[in-house]
Amino acid sequence: LRYNPGRNSSDVNVLHVRAQGRADTLHYVWSSLGAPAVLLVATRGSCSSLRLDWNRLLSPTPGGAIWFDPPGSVLYSAAVAFTKVYEAQGGSSLQELFYPPYDLAQFSWASIAHSLDPVALTAELKGTPGTDPAGSFANGSLAFRVTAYEGGGRDRSLPRLLHSANSSKVEFILAGLAPRGNSSELLLEVAAVEEVGVEQRLSSGSSSDDEYSPSVFQTLSLLAQPRAPAGAHSSALSFLHWRAAAYSSPSPRRQDGLECHPRGLQAANWTLPANSLLRAYFGEGIGTTYTVSALNISFGGQQGELYQERRYLSWSALLGFGQPPKDLPSPLVISITALALGTPLLLLLLGSCLLLCARRKGTSDYQPIN
Ligand SMILES: *[C@@H]1O[C@H](CO)[C@@H](O)[C@H](O)[C@H]1NC(C)=O
Ligand SMILES: *[C@@H]1O[C@H](CO)[C@@H](O)[C@H](O)[C@H]1NC(C)=O
Ligand SMILES: *[C@@H]1O[C@H](CO)[C@@H](O)[C@H](O)[C@H]1NC(C)=O
Ligand SMILES: *[C@@H]1O[C@H](CO)[C@@H](O)[C@H](O)[C@H]1NC(C)=O
Ligand SMILES: *[C@@H]1O[C@H](CO)[C@@H](O)[C@H](O)[C@H]1NC(C)=O
Ligand SMILES: *[C@@H]1O[C@H](CO)[C@@H](O)[C@H](O)[C@H]1NC(C)=O
Repeated sequence: LRYNPGRNSSDVNVLHVRAQGRADTLHYVWSSLGAPAVLLVATRGSCSSLRLDWNRLLSPTPGGAIWFDPPGSVLYSAAVAFTKVYEAQGGSSLQELFYPPYDLAQFSWASIAHSLDPVALTAELKGTPGTDPAGSFANGSLAFRVTAYEGGGRDRSLPRLLHSANSSKVEFILAGLAPRGNSSELLLEVAAVEEVGVEQRLSSGSSSDDEYSPSVFQTLSLLAQPRAPAGAHSSALSFLHWRAAAYSSPSPRRQDGLECHPRGLQAANWTLPANSLLRAYFGEGIGTTYTVSALNISFGGQQGELYQERRYLSWSALLGFGQPPKDLPSPLVISITALALGTPLLLLLLGSCLLLCARRKGTSDYQPIN
């Protein structure tokens, strides 16, 4: 976990997380030079390093300001950016009406130097809009809290996503933002940048809460997979993985859950997310060297009032390389399933046994009359 490597000031935010494997090294480079974004790079070898040309990075033409040494060691790269927050007027009208969006590229981001915790491996990117005519952010804050992991396991607080040392967590926290309507629905726009030939796919699954509780919840993953002919299987190169729930409390309990739904993943060739680090890395070759796709994630839906009431929203997602961690069915779930399936079976067996015995008895009671 390194903050602004090679720079002696905390006026901008670049956070480098490095996970070293035996044969490869995984790099996560978070930044708020524009819309908050993370660059994911997998490199060959266990000693690759990130290089930054700060002067060029902060200039209007940042192209080439970031690279990895040794040259040619990059195996795979991708990026995820959080570009906008939308607010929709809730209510019963068929036509959804949107307020002017909050463009996260226009936010000013506080230095993460003071929120950086090298022990817990967390840091927080906190921002406020450059202009806020409606004063919605007067008491509000928007933050992305990043967590890196040293090993596998599960968080102690909800949503208790299963993680590995290879993955990182990002938590989107909106606190105190004054909604502009009575039952506003909030949306977060997420953009993913991929190399050409890699496509994004939204996949849903289910997972259990933890090994001690049998509840099952829906999970969603945005998977980056090599484009393959229909029917062929291709495994994911990277993922963004989340539980279909957000929470309306800083110390969430199950009843604080808010629904969260993805809305239409689409190719978004318009432009690279406005972030200098991404521009520096990917250059201007949109459509030729990389593609962008994006989706909105909506929070609250019919329960828009819950945000209204609590003014707090947190949503967590796990980012990583390869397949998202899958949990194995826990022993408790297995035993409950076995019990649920087994009980009727046992009753059935017992029933037929009794019936048989009764029949036997029946036949033996009546001796044939000669
Ligand atoms: C960083 O700043 C401190 C104090 O301003 C100074 O002592 C130190 O030499 C600087 N380091 C570099 C690498 O510029
Ligand atoms: C911000 O908080 C103050 C004091 O609690 C309150 O008077 C004010 O109305 C709040 N502003 C908004 C936009 O919610
Ligand atoms: C971490 O990543 C490496 C290389 O990408 C892979 O070999 C390893 O299995 C991963 N570990 C886990 C726990 O996912
Ligand atoms: C919000 O609710 C108040 C009172 O319930 C109502 O007067 C007002 O018109 C509503 N505003 C909107 C934008 O629906
Ligand atoms: C987006 O890019 C793909 C591949 O480069 C292209 O086929 C498609 O027409 C583009 N879509 C738009 C809306 O430009
Ligand atoms: C997200 O929703 C807003 C409002 O409807 C829309 O303008 C924007 O294009 C959507 N983004 C994506 C990626 O669908």
